[in-house]
Amino acid sequence: MSGLLKYIGSICLLSIIFSCNPKKDNEVIKIGFSQCISTDQWRKDMNHSMMVQTSLYPNINLKISEADRSIEKQIDQIESFINEEVDVLIVSPLETKRIVPVIEKAYNKGIPVILIDRKIDSDKYTAFVGADNIAVGRMAASYIAASTKNSINVLEIKGTDNSSPTLERSLGFHQVAERESKINKIVSIEDYSDQKFANVLDTLDVTDFDYVYSFNDILARWAWQVAENKGLADQLKFVGVDGLVGPDGGINMVLEGKLEATVLYPTGGAEAIKLARRIHEGEKIQKNNSLNITLIDKLNADIMKNQYEKISEQQEELERQLEAIDIQEQKYYVQNNLLKVAMALLAIILSLAIYSIYSIRIIRRKNRELQLTNKKVIHQRNQIESIAEEVKRSNDAKMNFFTGLSHEFKTPLTLIMSSLESIHMELKGSKSKYLSDLDVISRNSKRLLRLINNLLDFRRIEDEKFNLKVSKTNLYEFSQKISRDFKREAKKRSIKFNIESNNEDLMLLLDRNLMDKVYFNLLSNAFKFTPDHGEIAIKIKYFNEDDRVDIHFTDSGIGIPKDEMEQLFKPFFKARNNNKNSSGIGLNLSRQFVELHNGKIEVHSHHGTEFIVSLPTTDEHFSSDQVIDANDVEEPSYLEVQFESELGNTELLVPEDKDDNQYSILIVEDNLELSRFLNNKLGMHYKTYLSDGTNAIEQAFELIPDIIICDLNLPGKGGFEICDTIKQDLRTSHIPTIILTALGDKESYLKGIESGADLYLTKPFSYAILIQSIKSLLYNREKLRYYYTNNLFKLEKDNKFSNNEQEFISYLNNLIKAHLDDSDFSVEKLAEELNISRVQLYRKVKALLGLNISEYINNYKLERAKIMLEETNFNISEIAYKNGFSTPNYFSTSFKNKYGSSPVSFRKDLRNSN
Ligand code: FRU
Repeated sequence: MSGLLKYIGSICLLSIIFSCNPKKDNEVIKIGFSQCISTDQWRKDMNHSMMVQTSLYPNINLKISEADRSIEKQIDQIESFINEEVDVLIVSPLETKRIVPVIEKAYNKGIPVILIDRKIDSDKYTAFVGADNIAVGRMAASYIAASTKNSINVLEIKGTDNSSPTLERSLGFHQVAERESKINKIVSIEDYSDQKFANVLDTLDVTDFDYVYSFNDILARWAWQVAENKGLADQLKFVGVDGLVGPDGGINMVLEGKLEATVLYPTGGAEAIKLARRIHEGEKIQKNNSLNITLIDKLNADIMKNQYEKISEQQEELERQLEAIDIQEQKYYVQNNLLKVAMALLAIILSLAIYSIYSIRIIRRKNRELQLTNKKVIHQRNQIESIAEEVKRSNDAKMNFFTGLSHEFKTPLTLIMSSLESIHMELKGSKSKYLSDLDVISRNSKRLLRLINNLLDFRRIEDEKFNLKVSKTNLYEFSQKISRDFKREAKKRSIKFNIESNNEDLMLLLDRNLMDKVYFNLLSNAFKFTPDHGEIAIKIKYFNEDDRVDIHFTDSGIGIPKDEMEQLFKPFFKARNNNKNSSGIGLNLSRQFVELHNGKIEVHSHHGTEFIVSLPTTDEHFSSDQVIDANDVEEPSYLEVQFESELGNTELLVPEDKDDNQYSILIVEDNLELSRFLNNKLGMHYKTYLSDGTNAIEQAFELIPDIIICDLNLPGKGGFEICDTIKQDLRTSHIPTIILTALGDKESYLKGIESGADLYLTKPFSYAILIQSIKSLLYNREKLRYYYTNNLFKLEKDNKFSNNEQEFISYLNNLIKAHLDDSDFSVEKLAEELNISRVQLYRKVKALLGLNISEYINNYKLERAKIMLEETNFNISEIAYKNGFSTPNYFSTSFKNKYGSSPVSFRKDLRNSN
């Protein structure tokens, strides 16, 4: 739409611009006029009459250039007119010759050239306008001759240039004078400056002259003035040329008696313009356009003057009217333009009106759409609100259920713990094998209770149901007290653990129960992530002037990734590099507890981690009902601290003798307690090996166990990767693998099966199921063994259902077969060919086939020999050598040991029975 508006605007503007040009429909005629002299009245009259004439034709554009008596200037000006491509060129030439080339140039270019008043020495021009100057000279001479009966002498004052009027006026005068006997003598002078003229008069005998004939009225007046000044004016009679009106004009001088007569010489300005117009319009015109001349003397000067004055008045009137017309025209154009502008504005207003209507309609439509969208949004918002409410209700219900359940847990747990305590008391000192199991149960019950307490705290914080109970506490002593349990652990792990304060007497209001949890949380984190021989410190810094105390908890542990610092205090967050057991709410609770004290907690991590708890030391932050007497404080019923190092204290029972014939199990588990539990339980039936995951693969290759039990979340390589590697490697591919993990989701299960695991058990697991699963896996392996050992040759032929193990056996058999006749072929060489160590080969074959490798090779040879005895006619020695026995005797002994009869009797019995 804005494009449309722009378009309308431009159309209007253009139409205004074009319509403002009054000469739109008339073709403009450009006329250039070169005037040779510009000072005298006659020339001014010529220019004026041209301009008046021009004003009658609105389409004529007249430009006048004044050459100021300079021929060079006049030539240049004509050149400019040529360049401007004027339609008609009018020239009043200064002289006859030097001007010719430029006039011919214009003429040759096709520009019509009109000469006015003066002629040139060429006929290459279009027309001439002017009076006949020979006739002027003749008229003056005839007048002088007619005015006397006596013979007279004439002083002729000529023009100074070689223009055609100068020459012709003199010529005409002389022609008549020669004819007229009355004119005796003519003396011609050229220079007409008054001083010179005066000098000339001095040299001449004035009485000698009767008449002075001047080239024009100006010269005639000067001549009269000089004679008058000398007192000679009365003796002379003066005749001029031009017959101009005005005070100094020839007509006035005649009336004043200064001149006898003057020849009216018309300028021809108006005629030249008329002619130019006609030429431009293509009319046929005459080349020579002669203007009439008249003699003005005492008899007609008055009439002439009156006529002139009349003409002048008319001329002025005409000019006034023209001016009025011009003004009217201007007014017309202004009004016309105003009208057009008004029309254009009207058009714009109309367009805007249309646009407004259109816009209003669009806005209305958009409004309707908006209202609809609004309604939808409101509806959706209401829906979301009700869903949110629903979610909140259900969440609250779940949380209430969960909180209730957690509370419910506490009672049975407490009962379990107190029962345990009494059993423990009973058994204390005895050598009961259940003591270590009791320890495990006790510790884990406490752990469970702490977790439940944390969860309940979390819930209370969420519900804002915490009611602080603060009491005056000595911060340094409080810190010492809480740290006592941790000092034990520090000593055991050679961790430097210090508490220092810049004000050991500082007392402030604390909810000891809550702050105790904060301390416990921060310190147990520090101990969890600080390696043995590390450093942990609590530094209390009191800022008296700020009424603030900062408690710094620093450790030299693994630190926290920078990008995770922000999220550290969010509930259920666990840092990337944290592979320890953690609920993820401890730090969140700590922050909430600190904030309940109007304090704040920050964390920094450079080398190790630093938590800074800032607390206000003034009392005004707490309401009076929050403050209790220090004596009424219930000491925190804190569950004793447990450390991984202590969890690992579960006594590791080492079976006295590891029997080579016992099945072996590799337990890959990083939770020390669980791994020891499994070790102790399974160790009763099997040979067990433990790995925390860091060296699981190496151990598997080394030990070639009969079963591997593997956790998934392990430091270093994860369980999937361990399982996959084991199943891909020839040495270990046969080992049944059990994944034992807390990850119970479908994806993890699938991933486990894909990695080749034979069984996927999730925690908490039933030990009975585990042990039964191990038994089943071992039983299946036994069945396979039986199958493999009894189908040695079948495996080679029937590879239809081959698996890794069958392929291995088949490959092994082929290697043995290829070296049958080589009695030097040893187990070492075989292992080398298989690219494994002798021990690994031994263990693999033992696991797969239940035999040691030499037994297996021997069995293979004997089986083959047996087939040869049955199916070929080779003699005993031949069969012995063909199957790699060093002597027939050794073959016979071995054969008899395995099958109960010697090769000879075996063949005999066979043939007899056939
Ligand atoms: C003016 C004038 C006139 C004369 C004409 C001849 O410059 O001298 O007086 O008639 O020129 O060209």
